[in-house]
Amino acid sequence: MELSVTLTKQPKQKPADESKLGFGKIFTDHMFVMDYDPEHGWHNAQIVPYGPLEILPACTSLHYSQSVFEGLKAYRTKTGEIRLFRPTENFKRLNNSNRRLCIPEIDEAFALEALKKLLEIDREWVPKSPGTSLYVRPFVFATEEFLGVHPSSHYKFIIILSPSGAYYASGLNPVGIYVERHYVRAVRGGTGEVKAGANYAISLKAQDEAEKEGYSQVLWLDGVEQKYIEEVGAMNVFFVIGDEIVTPALRGSILPGITRKSAIELLQHWGYQVVERPLAVDELTEAYRDGRLREAFGTGTAAVISPIGKLKIDDLVMELGGGKIGEISQKLYDNLTGIQWGELADPFGWSVKVCDV
Ligand code: PLP
Ligand code: COI
Repeated sequence: MELSVTLTKQPKQKPADESKLGFGKIFTDHMFVMDYDPEHGWHNAQIVPYGPLEILPACTSLHYSQSVFEGLKAYRTKTGEIRLFRPTENFKRLNNSNRRLCIPEIDEAFALEALKKLLEIDREWVPKSPGTSLYVRPFVFATEEFLGVHPSSHYKFIIILSPSGAYYASGLNPVGIYVERHYVRAVRGGTGEVKAGANYAISLKAQDEAEKEGYSQVLWLDGVEQKYIEEVGAMNVFFVIGDEIVTPALRGSILPGITRKSAIELLQHWGYQVVERPLAVDELTEAYRDGRLREAFGTGTAAVISPIGKLKIDDLVMELGGGKIGEISQKLYDNLTGIQWGELADPFGWSVKVCDV
């Protein structure tokens, strides 16, 4: 497929102070846009200046949330390269999400080539400071002008780029998480295992209540019995219990995180015993009371490896790690980011070169 490029005539000022980037607040000069209609399939692939879109008020995704997204990062290495981390996994997962939401699949190889081209054009936007990266947000949404509840006939696939720092304001300092007992995020057979925008809309109420109590995010329990641990709002979770590293098994309602998969592969490579299994919240409190719960951390593209320092379950507030990052979390963070920033050997071939800068 052809990819047309129109460069901006008004390049924006790049952020001068990279310590103040935050997450997802600033956008680069260009974006990738592609359209779908039944006659042409996916077509009209273009890189254009970042700017407003024209959509109609009856656009289906505004009403019924037929939209999906992805999140990955581009890094600037010390040797002056721009690299992506496991991007084929993201486009594969985007198509899983597309299938679940009745959205036509995209050509994964073409999408990656288009992203590389976009990154090459906006390469100066990839931040340099330690801990920063260019967050890449591909997303697909329905654009048909129609109020019936039915898969749309028209879609847009867009990729935007955002120079970002840490997702949590606390950076690598341990976060406080609150176990959600009332609201649920997903059930098996629902959309929890894909990145549907609607999953995040329904999580806002619980997140808002957690924030009011001083916690960063909620830890969701399974939607049926509310007994088993699932995941956090924007990350998968791991618990070091005795000699085992336990992470909830993927049973259809948890997002199969790419960072989760990478953490499991790294930990196993180092000889740790990682177990993917159902983990009851009662087992966790018991392990805490017995002194066997040694560490807890979250994994995610935006969150990277995020130590959990405080976990509230009903009236019990578990304090973990004495306000410091745990040994395994630190080792994972150092090695994962070392591979991503091109500072450590990449034995798995996860890091993909885009261009020199
Ligand atoms: N779980 C949820 C609900 C998420 O939104 C994310 C972020 O993408 C993750 C887990 C972590 O997934 P990944 O490691 O692929 O970013
Ligand atoms: C990511 O980590 O890329 C995500 O998609 C999380 C997002 C909801 C901020």
